[in-house]
Amino acid sequence: MINLRLNIDKTSGFVSKDEIKLFRSEIELHYQNIYNKTGKGNEFLGWATLPEEISSSIIDNIEKDAAILSKISEVVVVIGIGGSYLGSKAVIDALSNNFPQLSKTSERINPIVLFAGQNIDEDYMHDLLSVLDKKDYSIIVISKSGTTTEPAIAFRILKKHIEKKYGKSNARERIIAVTDKSRGALKKLSDAEGYTTYVIPDDVGGRYSVLTPVGLLPIAVAGFDIRKLVEGAKNMQHYLREEKDLEKNPAALYAVVRNILYRKGKTIEIMANFTPVMANLTEWWKQLYGESEGKENKGIFPAGVNFTCDLHSMGQYIQQGLRNIFETVISIEQPRSKIEIPNDPENIDGLNFLSGKRYSFVNKMAEQGTLLAHVDGGVPNICIILPQINEQNLGELIYFFEIGCALSGYILDVNPFDQPGVEDYKKNMFALLGKPGYEELARELKSRL
Ligand code: PA5
Repeated sequence: MINLRLNIDKTSGFVSKDEIKLFRSEIELHYQNIYNKTGKGNEFLGWATLPEEISSSIIDNIEKDAAILSKISEVVVVIGIGGSYLGSKAVIDALSNNFPQLSKTSERINPIVLFAGQNIDEDYMHDLLSVLDKKDYSIIVISKSGTTTEPAIAFRILKKHIEKKYGKSNARERIIAVTDKSRGALKKLSDAEGYTTYVIPDDVGGRYSVLTPVGLLPIAVAGFDIRKLVEGAKNMQHYLREEKDLEKNPAALYAVVRNILYRKGKTIEIMANFTPVMANLTEWWKQLYGESEGKENKGIFPAGVNFTCDLHSMGQYIQQGLRNIFETVISIEQPRSKIEIPNDPENIDGLNFLSGKRYSFVNKMAEQGTLLAHVDGGVPNICIILPQINEQNLGELIYFFEIGCALSGYILDVNPFDQPGVEDYKKNMFALLGKPGYEELARELKSRL
């Protein structure tokens, strides 16, 4: 059995049971294409069977290396962009204290994980280097292609810093690379320097790679149980593969319902959470779905909101703006901690009707009230329910979203595993930076600026 539940009751005014049933044979075909690795982009379907294929020796090695880095580091900098950082950031944030940087070192046995190479901001890098001047640190540099500009430049800067701080040979012990088994500049550099390296399987694309060392190594460094994460994903893998009934198969149902809504003009999906630690899970999901589906002038636009905060900003638009939105809520049943609202004999704020109630009860009522208001306002609601945030449930959620994304991309009839559009900005950037070979494009672009 799985812990994750999908509730589509609040799409009923927009999507009928009969419309869902029409997708039965199509979903069966897409599932076959995923598991037999015969669908569009089939050279990148390795992630589909990854949870049950991850060898215990890889997990052992990851845990061993994570323990070594943890012992010598107050901070571990993960360098990567897109699929090479969003998954680990999402899981680490979801499992962490809300204020990890401020929690006392004595309460923390694992290093703080910081990220670099996901932007090219000079001030960000400057501030990071200032932190690293004062902290013992290590680096995990991640790039599947090994040639992505942002992480490559960040690594050049940080490599210099760490070598200056510890000396070249000690620095080497503090750097782990995760990259392709044979191609790319990062692989070449790692071989030349003798870094410990982990391989990203050929058939797993960046945004589907959180359950490879790309995600598992940083998550283990942060002190979380990667075995339970993988176990959760494996559990979901088995459940989805065995459950042939579309209506009982949550990933299939999610893919079908969102596509029915899309065909009815609901072209924007807003992922909402009521739990701040889940904010970066939305960022990971946005990349997974946006990069997988947004092509050939098609695709649902994935957006995100953090409630109740954003009810005081985006809430207005969601309630009454253009009716091209549907909402998917990640609903967490049990918080990790317990706080009751105190009684106040003065009751000047008039809140004594809440005395003794859990803080989370207020959050739950806000969630349910919002759901009904948005549905009444013409925004269909899909609800993904997790009993609580832990490694096992996040593993289930990740795999659920990955399969949902592949099925959804196939329903949309696109290749959910490529990203041809990402190249365009890179070409322009290289030309403007004066990279050899781009001279003609540089002239043309400069004349337009
Ligand atoms: O999903 C993808 O493939 C991309 O988002 C990549 O993860 C991203 O561009 C980083 O690529 P790389 O790991 O090759 O540096």
